Amino acid sequence: MSASRDGFTSTFGVLVATLGSAVGLGNIWKFPYMTGTNGGASFLVVYVLATLLVALPVMIVEIMLGRASRANAVTTFEVLAPKKQRFWPVIGYMGLIAAVLILAFYTGVAGWVFAYIFKSITGSIHSTDPASAKAAFGALVSNPLEALFWQWVVLAWAGTIIMMGVSKGIEAAAKKLMPILFLLLILLCIRSLTLPGAMEGVKFLFAPDFSKITASVILTAVGLAFFKLSIGMGTMLTYGSYFRTEQNIPLTATRVMLADLSVSLLAGLAIFPAVFSFGFEPAAGPSLVFMTIPAVFASMPFGQFFMALFFILAAIAATGAILSIMEVPVAMLSERFKFSRKKATLLTLGVIGLFGIPASLSSSLTASWTLFGLNPFDLFDYISSNILMPIGGILICLFVGWVYGLPQLQKQLSNDGQLNNGVIIKAVFILVRYITPTLILVIMLKGLGLI
Ligand code: PFF
Repeated sequence: MSASRDGFTSTFGVLVATLGSAVGLGNIWKFPYMTGTNGGASFLVVYVLATLLVALPVMIVEIMLGRASRANAVTTFEVLAPKKQRFWPVIGYMGLIAAVLILAFYTGVAGWVFAYIFKSITGSIHSTDPASAKAAFGALVSNPLEALFWQWVVLAWAGTIIMMGVSKGIEAAAKKLMPILFLLLILLCIRSLTLPGAMEGVKFLFAPDFSKITASVILTAVGLAFFKLSIGMGTMLTYGSYFRTEQNIPLTATRVMLADLSVSLLAGLAIFPAVFSFGFEPAAGPSLVFMTIPAVFASMPFGQFFMALFFILAAIAATGAILSIMEVPVAMLSERFKFSRKKATLLTLGVIGLFGIPASLSSSLTASWTLFGLNPFDLFDYISSNILMPIGGILICLFVGWVYGLPQLQKQLSNDGQLNNGVIIKAVFILVRYITPTLILVIMLKGLGLI
């Protein structure tokens, strides 16, 4: 393809590609398991607030910066910041580190999904019994070679696709498959909600017990909101650089946020009623989805077929997210450091493969390599979601609120006066100048126990 300034070709294409980055294992795997480990409904309430007050404004201005500069996350700040302020490209470099850390564990989880496609076809995970579901998952993740093999399959798959280019590869796949995943989730919800004892799960998800909220739970919710909307590390900025001039950024971001939230809620409704009905442990952690989803399918007609289809679609959703994260280093290396796109992709894959090893072996050989009580898998997740992305979010807000300024923001978000959205722009400006960065900072410091 012709370098990375290839862009999205239609308004609808922009929406689905952006959604393709947001929707992924975060909805199907991370949101349910974190809701399960952090107290259910009360976590959901904090998460929704974090999405509205923190994540959405950051998403809008991050996309805006990319479209304004039409460049990668480092170059953007070199171009848009005043000559004397040489500090801002740090945001791009931090994003690069976050991208590597996220991909190290995310491609591992995507590998489990790929493995589950095959396991659902062979029928080896077709069971509603918690003990055998746990054993099946345990066998996969505690086998170092199997875990690594599947992660490398994912890396090879992603590498092949990314070399095909932005508009062709990502847009085409996302456009066709997203609606099918949505329908399949609805089907799962119906089955899960009609299981005996399903109401317990609904209560867990929607009847909040606010005593479960602590500073670290709030930080986790904010981290999840960043992770979910792919913000604070240059991914949305890089995607924004492919946005069309006439695209309505606040509207697109809001739509993506709402659609993304719906998918997460559907996943929650597909999982928690079944968790309680079959007697799984809601706080099981990263294994939750891989144990519960097969159980729901095992209790419906044609379950084996639908389960294989579900994991295929989950793998495709994961791919959309992976490609979008890879776009951060690939666009940066190819534009800013003049690598060919092919070399940039290969180098990125190599580095992820390296960091992926300790992450993927976290249930076996590297389980005892802990720092602050976290194994490599959890540590990479914690550092990226709860530290790097929120700091990136603060810096992006400060840059737009105090350096880039209101007149420029108005010009960009109104598409040079074409759109009549002055009130929204002012609200976004006040949020990113004062409220959002303060909130993130306080939550981070409290959540990390520093104040
Ligand atoms: N938003 C994706 C998900 O929820 O699965 C994950 C992700 C994609 C995180 C892109 C960060 C990112 F830059």
